[in-house]
Amino acid sequence: MGEPSPAPTLRLPFSVDAYDAAPIVTERLVLRPLSENDVADVYEYQRLDEVLRFIPWPRRTAQEGAEHTRKRAGMRTLAADSDAVFFACVLPGEPSLFGDGGDRVIGDVMLRLSDADNADVEIGWVFHPDFAGRGYATEASAAVLALAFEQLDAHRVHAQLDPVNTASAALCTRLGMRHEGTTRETFYDKGAWSDSAFYGILRSEFDAR
Ligand SMILES: CC(C)(COP(=O)(O)OP(=O)(O)OC[C@H]1O[C@@H](n2cnc3c(N)ncnc32)[C@H](O)[C@@H]1OP(=O)(O)O)[C@@H](O)C(=O)NCCC(=O)NCCS
Repeated sequence: MGEPSPAPTLRLPFSVDAYDAAPIVTERLVLRPLSENDVADVYEYQRLDEVLRFIPWPRRTAQEGAEHTRKRAGMRTLAADSDAVFFACVLPGEPSLFGDGGDRVIGDVMLRLSDADNADVEIGWVFHPDFAGRGYATEASAAVLALAFEQLDAHRVHAQLDPVNTASAALCTRLGMRHEGTTRETFYDKGAWSDSAFYGILRSEFDAR
């Protein structure tokens, strides 16, 4: 047996409130907590078949989509397992569909408390396909991944995805996450079973990058 490892020290509760006034600014994006005012922008990607294909969201009407976004916008604290928070990814200069003269939300990145006792956090992402292929998802997710390790003090961050979702798998790899394994027919959604591929990155690997 080697040296004992320090016990996990996840900083809970973790609230995203502070990021309203002080959002995360990356090279091209601004990340702040998802808001009720993002309903229209989010529905632009929430309603698309190519997005729904890999996300366990049902097809929603605009009203149902608005309720869903309002619910997610109200989730602002990580305290217990399964709690989630959502960062809206805003592209400065791209007009919001909300019509308030603000900038558009082109995607969102989630952090979910997977296992507080073991400091394990799940990351997830969804972006409008009109803005794909330019590295925006990588840029936003890298910032949220850094937050998970540096602010929340995660020991491990993982993503779970359908292995046929090659865009999401490539994003994991760009973030430095490693494929840890694939479980068979573990996920039922929209009338079909899919496998689940798990990608993860440890604190030690993040620190070594
Ligand atoms: C998963 C998802 C976010 C990936 O989007 P993406 O556009 O492939 O990812 P990025 O925005 O990081 O763009 C990466 C691409 O831009 C290119 N790129 C250009 N500039 C770049 C930059 N500055 N940094 C990184 N990549 C850059 C990359 O080479 C890559 O190109 P490629 O696809 O030809 O290899 C998107 O497909 C999506 O939202 N899908 C639907 C929802 C979903 O599946 N969510 C995950 C469920 S598990």
